[in-house]
Amino acid sequence: MSNSIDNLLHETRRFTPSEEFRANAVAGADLYDRASSDRPAFWGEQARELLHWHTPFTRTLDWSNPPFAKWFDDGQLNVAYNCLDRHVEAGNGDRVALNWEGEPGDSKTFTYAELTAEVKKAANVLAGLGIGQGDRVAIYLPMIPEAVISMLAVARLGAVHSVIFGGFSAESLRARIDDASAKLVITADGGWRKGKVSALKPAVDASLTIGGPENPSTVEHVLVVKRGNNDVAWVHGRDLWWHDQIDAANPEHEAQPFPAENPLFILYTSGTTGKPKGILHTTGGYLTQVAFTHKNIFDLHPETDVYWSTADVGWITGHSYVVYGPLANGATQVIYEGTPDAPHPGRWWEIIQKYGVTILYTAPTAIRTFMKLGHHIPAQFDLTSLRLLGSVGEPINPEAWVWYRDVIGGGTTPVVDTWWQTETGAIMVSALPGVTTLKPGSAQVAVPGIHIEVLDDQGTPVPKNSGGLLVVSEPWPAMLRGIWGDPDRFVETYWSTFPGKYFAGDGARLDRDGDIWLLGRVDDVMNVSGHRLSTAEIESSLVSHPRVAEAAVVGATDETTGQAVVAFVIVRVIEDDDEPGAAKALADEILDEVVAETVESLAAELRAHVATQIGAIARPKQVFIVAELPKTRSGKIMRRLLRDVAEGREIGDTTTLADTQVMKIISGTVG
Ligand code: WT7
Repeated sequence: MSNSIDNLLHETRRFTPSEEFRANAVAGADLYDRASSDRPAFWGEQARELLHWHTPFTRTLDWSNPPFAKWFDDGQLNVAYNCLDRHVEAGNGDRVALNWEGEPGDSKTFTYAELTAEVKKAANVLAGLGIGQGDRVAIYLPMIPEAVISMLAVARLGAVHSVIFGGFSAESLRARIDDASAKLVITADGGWRKGKVSALKPAVDASLTIGGPENPSTVEHVLVVKRGNNDVAWVHGRDLWWHDQIDAANPEHEAQPFPAENPLFILYTSGTTGKPKGILHTTGGYLTQVAFTHKNIFDLHPETDVYWSTADVGWITGHSYVVYGPLANGATQVIYEGTPDAPHPGRWWEIIQKYGVTILYTAPTAIRTFMKLGHHIPAQFDLTSLRLLGSVGEPINPEAWVWYRDVIGGGTTPVVDTWWQTETGAIMVSALPGVTTLKPGSAQVAVPGIHIEVLDDQGTPVPKNSGGLLVVSEPWPAMLRGIWGDPDRFVETYWSTFPGKYFAGDGARLDRDGDIWLLGRVDDVMNVSGHRLSTAEIESSLVSHPRVAEAAVVGATDETTGQAVVAFVIVRVIEDDDEPGAAKALADEILDEVVAETVESLAAELRAHVATQIGAIARPKQVFIVAELPKTRSGKIMRRLLRDVAEGREIGDTTTLADTQVMKIISGTVG
């Protein structure tokens, strides 16, 4: 790691904004001065300028009970009205809001007037199903317009959505439904992925029957969008077709105002324990910061730009920079249902050409995958409409940054690397295009109005040219308001390392200019393709398999996905009554590598087990069957050594190991 950091810090390429870009840029350097004199007042100005308030607020920040912040709390607004109706009322009803592209090549366009009309009907449908202020609605949908419509309809009613990524399993879905006591699930029969229909509804059906009749869920209805046209099972009385309900719905719906601290959504993310955290966001502060950052960091000119974020609405990027930020700003955007390589590897570039996309926001994993495929693929398409590129989810290595700018951005577009988290709600560290001289590989500077520090273990800010832990030192408008149902865990996880300051869980380094370089997580959280996964959650899934006695999971460095899940597993010896000693013999054989096939099939079974339990994104790339796990004398698994093995390195310092023999056995087994 330290070698690669040194290399990074020797990166000397610099890109100043072009005169043309600077002249037309939305953001100016004055934003920093305006923000630094009085941060809450600055955010108050932004909230008034960017949003419509049914009842104007008189208070900006209430930090009297830290870490529980309230922003603009005596103000009232309606999030959906801000994202829809007001643009129509301002005469922009004919502007395209969504250009939706289905994977098989079908497409649909919604103007702001049309999207508003759809959301009004959907809000009436949900209200008819008993959804009102504060109720929780689970959304488990592919990237189709109904995903955006559902989220906005829930928001319009002052209810709370919990979007669950379509790649999560029935069990993960049920855990999230239970945690939030959701009354309604909105799903689809299926969606298109990798050239075929992938069913979704069966996972909903399975999730709601987990635990049998003794374990009923809180769900009263399942609303089903028809997309895949695949056959589905039907529970009469519970299941309803979306189109039947929408067609019969009243088209009129007036948006009611709700307090600025009314909850907007819960989004689950992995932490250091096995149980995902329901990150809670509210309305007024959240919408202010997502609109502000979307406008200034992406240099949005809503009349002329065509913006595309490739994120799925199942992740925070899809919430903040597909739904709420762009729509609050009246942007025209593209959303795409499928995978980048279906039906051909130039699919994304074809979409950019087709819609004349000007701003593209994606993840380093995707960029590295395209780099591998070669520049001749994007070269077949006209990408000259692009004028700004964004990156998010994990550190972007300078080579990928420069490739992105040169090959996709024609050697001229600024690239903004944006650091933030599910918890922060909106971008926190990024360059401002048109202002900042760009440095490939560095996320660079705090967003105006955000106070970021890099601290040492004692909580002292580190000097330039050194590393430490990234913290946010003052409350910010889009900050999480808590973990759903668990205020203690909220305080403990984020606010106890450095009292009064938010600890993000990331390591960072300041270079000699004071610019920030993100170095990855410092906890047992992995980042695979920009998605957060917990080692503990995957370990507990593995040990729930009857053949597994103990498991340890590490994130091993991976060229394309940033990190990859690698599992080390000790096989349980199960005595078979008919054949005493057989299982023990099998375990010995496995360890002797006598029956390589058994190892392989067991590894395959365990990989599949994790995919079924958590979801395909958590499936380990590799499973090593081992005799022992390296532990310290106090019994803590030494993941550092496991990472050495997983990454094919010489095993490091083992002096704190309880049994130094252990690593020999492990390396013998896998080496
Ligand atoms: C973690 C948050 C924010 C949307 C996507 C991920 C890592 C995120 C960057 C970046 C380096 C980054 C951090 C962070 N991360 N963006 N630009 N450079 N690392 O959201 O699932 O909540 O994960 O992703 O480690 O803590 P998330």
